[in-house]
Amino acid sequence: MNRATNRNPRVNARVVVLPGDGIGPEVIAQAVPVLVRAAERHGCTVTVEEGLLGRVAYDACGNDLPDDTLAAATKADAILVGAVGEVDRRQAWFRGGPSLIRLRKELDLFANLRPVATVAPLADISPLRPEVAASVDMVIVRELSSGIYYGTPRGVHTETSPKSAVNTMTYSEDEVRRVARVAFEAARSRRRELVSVGKHNVLEVSMFWRDVVNEVAADYPDVVLRHEIVDAAAYRLVASPASYDVVLTANLFGDILSDVAAAAGGSLGMAPSASVGDSGPGLFEPVHGSAPDIAGTDSANPIGAILSAAMLADIALGLPEARGDINRAVSTVLADGLRTRDIAAGRARVVGCQEMGSAVLDALGNAGTA
Ligand code: IPM
Ligand code: MN
Repeated sequence: MNRATNRNPRVNARVVVLPGDGIGPEVIAQAVPVLVRAAERHGCTVTVEEGLLGRVAYDACGNDLPDDTLAAATKADAILVGAVGEVDRRQAWFRGGPSLIRLRKELDLFANLRPVATVAPLADISPLRPEVAASVDMVIVRELSSGIYYGTPRGVHTETSPKSAVNTMTYSEDEVRRVARVAFEAARSRRRELVSVGKHNVLEVSMFWRDVVNEVAADYPDVVLRHEIVDAAAYRLVASPASYDVVLTANLFGDILSDVAAAAGGSLGMAPSASVGDSGPGLFEPVHGSAPDIAGTDSANPIGAILSAAMLADIALGLPEARGDINRAVSTVLADGLRTRDIAAGRARVVGCQEMGSAVLDALGNAGTA
């Protein structure tokens, strides 16, 4: 059975929680009770198992992706991650890439779904004019387990003169095909418009990507496909974000464009994500990073993590109603005027991470019935 996208509601589920670094533990502490309660209301008992990932893991045991974390994650129904800290390329523990990058590869999580939608109560904090920021509702499908993040040759050559460094963007046909299918399926469940983004006016790898996506399109005649070049897409994501439905793109382009799109949605602190493969557990995490500058100050926004838990409930546990409940609870709290610092404007009532989390949990208690 495909556990990554489980359509049968679960009665019991084991979720491995990896709070990670910086603000990760703070936002996860708010997201977990929301997940547990939302699932419980729809007949699913969630058992949570905590593990170490990132800098905290390295400090505890000399390995930023410990074997027992990987073993537990592999056996779980889903994984919820907080954030993984800043990495210093020169430190020994970074060899082989950051822990999160290796975890994605180990679990073969090739499709990363990053939804971005206008949140009406936050219109006043959008960096875009209200009429541009209105009605944004898109999902970015980012290829996650290949491309320039993993390609070889890679490395720094200090033995040559002049010194040099190399990374390689490479995609096989299968790798493009499988993530394209996820994007076409997503489009099918939405407005049936797919924009595939690359740099096909320059890069062979993007020309190849475009050709493979065109082949996959033959199986989806009901979806309107368009190709855009990444610089133009970056511009249009800011200038007319509401014109996008599903965006399909390679690993590095998706990393960049999903942060751009998150700004159109209001705040990076609000953005959730789901990473899935063909089988095995999915991994759910907020798009924001570890934000070491505000760690420990109770000022992080837990909503990105809470909305990631909502995606987990739907995609991994087969509980779309639980996702709906969580999303509604978040909307209620925002409509009531509660704001963490990152989404505050004017005379808004600014609350801390814990208070925002408790408010969402309370709102969930009052939402709908199981
Ligand atoms: C993300 C992050 C990661 C990435 C970092 C932390 C390695 O920016 O999930 O978008 O580049 O994929
Ligand atoms: Mn990123």
